[in-house]
This record gives sequence, structure tokens and C-alpha cells, in this order.
Amino acid sequence: MISYRVPFNKPFFIEKSFQYIRDAMEKGNISGNGIYTLKCHSLLKQLFGIRKAMLTTSCTHALEMCALLLDVQPGDEVIVPSFTFVSTINAFVLRGAKPVFIDVRSDTLNMNERLLERLINSRTKAIVPVHYAGVGCEMDVISSIAASHNIPVVEDNAQGIFGKYRENFLGTFGCLSTHSFHETKNFSCGEGGALFINDPQYIERAEILWEKGTNRNRFFRGEVDKYTWVDLGSSYLPSDILAAFLYAQLEDHIHIQLVRKKIWEYYFENLKDWASNLNIGLPFVPVHCDQSYHMFYLLLPSFNMRQSLINYLKGKSILSVFHYVPLHLSEMGQRFGGKLGDCPVTEDVSIRLLRLPFYNSLTTSDQRYAIEALKDFNGE
Ligand SMILES: Cc1ncc(COP(=O)(O)O)c(C=O)c1O
Repeated sequence: MISYRVPFNKPFFIEKSFQYIRDAMEKGNISGNGIYTLKCHSLLKQLFGIRKAMLTTSCTHALEMCALLLDVQPGDEVIVPSFTFVSTINAFVLRGAKPVFIDVRSDTLNMNERLLERLINSRTKAIVPVHYAGVGCEMDVISSIAASHNIPVVEDNAQGIFGKYRENFLGTFGCLSTHSFHETKNFSCGEGGALFINDPQYIERAEILWEKGTNRNRFFRGEVDKYTWVDLGSSYLPSDILAAFLYAQLEDHIHIQLVRKKIWEYYFENLKDWASNLNIGLPFVPVHCDQSYHMFYLLLPSFNMRQSLINYLKGKSILSVFHYVPLHLSEMGQRFGGKLGDCPVTEDVSIRLLRLPFYNSLTTSDQRYAIEALKDFNGE
């Protein structure tokens, strides 16, 4: 593997994580639903004011739980942006759903709420907005359209933890929302995620799905005298070692978010004039949104210029990366009828977007090095 002076991402450790892992091991319970899992659940619940939080083995698995909780059946349709990660829709397709791809807005790159109503029909089972780069989708409009058709909203908030839309935390608008603690995210335990449940009708079944389709949670609470197979399910709960690792970071969330804010603002302040001279777009955050400081991207004027910039930065030992390939044009997307022209904004931005290195331990001197390198790039 090539090593870069400024890689795109670097895993992040804090000392306290090791202390908590040791503690979990010494307490002798490192399988799922242990002490640190419960600590994470109550901290998340308290921080976000939600009905229930459950750690999962990934955001992908939290999304799979959503598909099961909503009882998605073959033939149901799920509306999802084409500009997202595979899991946002694959979780529903696993239950037999048909993806209905919606285009994104050209400013925030989030689901274009103005296109939503026309995609809804009697088969629509869920609407899944994705808060791209941790900037909120237009949740007022999306929620009201969804409510008028009685369709549940599942927020894919993989990137948006601690972001806000009109003063409310992302992940608190939908009946369910999902989060990622993958290595590349603001808070990480390598692979991990969380399901937030805002509508209490889903809580009891979520506990069963989480524990392989058994009522083991009720057994642990002393509500039944033995546990057994009562529903579908899988092993969606992470080891308590991962929860211990993550808990230390969640406790330190104010500091971690401040560090990320500083990195984001340093890019923005130092690149805005250069970008405007070269007609390069920078992320747009509406005034009513507080972003999660997950990502910093550039929107180059053309595909060719993006590719030259990637190569130019590689030459300076800086790794920058593109992002999603439109899902409606992917092999699977095409099997569902996706074709060129269906989501023109997605098709356009996906070939021009470039993500810059962004990780909690990015030093100012490395960031300055990357910024100086960018400023020496004249577009060719
Ligand atoms: C929008 C979105 N949804 C879902 C996922 C999947 O997350 P995980 O890797 O935790 O399964 C990602 C991963 O990057 C993502 O960006």
C-alpha cells in the first residue's frame, strides 16, 4: 500500500479507549449488550433526546434493521437519492424492495425535496433522506410530504451525527435513523453504527431483531423466564470491546467536534479565493443548518480537471478521493431500470467532486502543506 504524507483518512485513538477496553475485559463480559454498550446507549439517548439508541455492527446493519422494522416486502418501493452509498438502498432491496432514485439539489447535494411528491405512489414504503457531508436535508418539507402520505421517513445519518437542521439534531426527524462509526467517520470503532428510534412502536421489535430474533432482552430484564426464537433477526449487536472503544470518543464529543470544525474552517478560509478564481465550488451549508464537519469537498469545473488534480496531489504525496458513483447507473441500479439522464445533477456532480484529507489527527502543518499544494495547482 502506498503511504502518503497526507493520507485521506487516519484512524483515530484516544488513550481512554484502551482504559475502557481493559475495564470491559476485566469485568469479564465482552460479547454484545455489555456494560459499555449500555453506557453508549444511555449517552446517545441523553445527548440527542431520542426514545432509544442501539449500537449496531455498522450503519449498513442499522439500515437492514429499519427495513425489517418497516416490514418491507417484495414489490414495495423505497425513495432514495442516487447520490449515496450502496447500503442506503441495498438494505431495503435485501427485503425485496424496488429502489426509486431521486436526484439531489445542486447546492447541498441532498435529496431534492421538490422532486419528492411526484415519485410517491401506493407502493411507496419508505423515504430515505441522506444528510450528505452532515449537512441537513430539507426536513421540514420532506417530513410534511411524508406525513401527508403516511409514509415513514428513515434518515441515513451515517455522516451527520451532531449536525442540526433548524436547531434540531439530524437523526431525530425520521421515525428511525441510522449512524455510522466506520473508520472514516467523526467517531469510530473501526466498524460500527447505531440505530436511533424516535417512534416507540418500533422499540420492542428492534430489541428482538438485534438479538437474532429472540426475546433475550426481555429475559435479561427478568420479564420472561427463558428466551426463545420469536421473530426474524440477526446478530446486529457489536462486541462490548468496540463499544468501550467508542464510548471514550462519545464522551469526548465536544472536543472532537471542535477539532473537526477547526479543520473544516481552515480549508474553507484558505481555499475560498483560490477556488473562486478557478471556478471551483466549495461545500454549501444553508444558514438554518449546523453541519457535522464530516467532510470537505471541492466541485471541480470538469471531470478532466478533477482527475488532473487527483494525480497532481498524488505527486505531492497527498491523497484526495472521489465519492459516490450514481446508484441508478450502477450495475444493480440498471437492473432496476436506471438509465443515463434519470438524475442529471447526481450524474454531473459525481464526476466533478473531490474529497480532501480530513481526519481528527490532521495537523495544521500537514493541512497547510495540502492547501499550499492546492494553491499551486493552476487547473491543468
Ligand atoms: C450515507 C452512508 N450510508 C451508509 C453507509 C454505510 O456505513 P457503514 O460502513 O457503517 O455500514 C455509509 C458509509 O460510508 C454512508 O456514507
